[in-house]
Amino acid sequence: MLENKKIVLGITGGIAAYKAAELTRALVKAGAQVRVIMTKSAGEFITPLTLQTLSQGPVYVDLFAPTERYDMAHIALADWADAFVVAPATGNVIGKIASGIADDLLTTTLMAQNKPALVCPAMNDKMLANPAVQENIGKLVRFGYTVLDSGVGELACKTTGAGRLPDIPDILDAIEGLFSPQDFAGEKVLITAGPTQEPLDPVRYITNQSSGKMGYALARAAHQRGAHVTLVSGPTPLSAPRVERFIRVRTAREMHQAVLDCCDDATIIIKAAAVADYRPKTQAAQKIKKDRGLAAVELVRNPDILADLGARKKKGLLVGFAMETEDLLANARRKLVKKNIDMIVANNLREEGAGFQGDTNIITILDKNGQTIALEKMSKTEAAHRILDHVRTLGRRKGSRAKK
Ligand code: CTP
Repeated sequence: MLENKKIVLGITGGIAAYKAAELTRALVKAGAQVRVIMTKSAGEFITPLTLQTLSQGPVYVDLFAPTERYDMAHIALADWADAFVVAPATGNVIGKIASGIADDLLTTTLMAQNKPALVCPAMNDKMLANPAVQENIGKLVRFGYTVLDSGVGELACKTTGAGRLPDIPDILDAIEGLFSPQDFAGEKVLITAGPTQEPLDPVRYITNQSSGKMGYALARAAHQRGAHVTLVSGPTPLSAPRVERFIRVRTAREMHQAVLDCCDDATIIIKAAAVADYRPKTQAAQKIKKDRGLAAVELVRNPDILADLGARKKKGLLVGFAMETEDLLANARRKLVKKNIDMIVANNLREEGAGFQGDTNIITILDKNGQTIALEKMSKTEAAHRILDHVRTLGRRKGSRAKK
């Protein structure tokens, strides 16, 4: 999504400035063209040479420095860019942008531009909580800037609190969001992802090979497209994406409860989780010892969460997944009808490039209107957007708020 996008990255003088090097590298790796503007104080933390090397382009610092080009840097950069990112953004620069002060190259360029712009505040927790800073952040949002919430954790000043620069993947997601259509604005999307674990004793459990990648990609994509996203996730090693609500569960019954708790106000529910159909009938309180023997494990059925939602469906769109190893389309269509859902995303575990663990998928979308769309192999991120595109099409027909 960032391929060939022209990004002006503004770096200001906080300790997190060193992380801007990693961000620059990640942007270049994603195919973006990057031009860096540093404030004078940013130069106290990181050198222009580092950023020039990583961005493979010029680094601008001084508003009045003569350049090889005759045009004014602030106007030229404002025209060149597709989007602006200020990371890290100190309380000082946030205050200047909010107040219309332009006294260096970065603030002057920001004043001269009208492109999508992302500001990533990073500072000490007390500075962030300062009412003036909070008011200035509010002003930026009103002026149309996207402001990424700071992370919570240990800060450079050794205190713990809000104020950390968000992780680089989260900043990249937010930058991609600048280029995304906001066609899910107003939608409340509930997504489940990952496997469930059904314990047998304190050390053993039944599970499946789901990685959670498809569901997490859907959560990110829906969030980027403006949806309010609740992600209910089974156990995965993936880090939680920045969504409005993240609920971690372990078992199918926990997932069932979490989904029931959240489903009433959801306008779209996407069940990408690989829920274990069975659980051990009993759970031993202590580790089962081998010399006591365990000839067989008695299993009982877990609730079918999707079928349950289909049975009680009142409003909104219901999307399921079908993971098959044979008769893909027939099995998927049978599930679509039996579970009373609007759309099902089918994939064949046996196909190279499809399924649980990898970063790609080969999906076929079937809907209740009889439409079948077979897609070629693509990244799970791209597949997530194609799924959302079809949700939007169905939603438009159904009168949901998902719009053009
Ligand atoms: N699903 C669910 N609760 C379950 C089992 C499945 O909500 N207990 C949902 C999955 O999240 C998925 C869809 O139902 O969206 C289909 O899941 P899948 O495992 O492909 O099919 P099953 O219904 O379990 O049928 P089978 O195992 O016989 O293929």
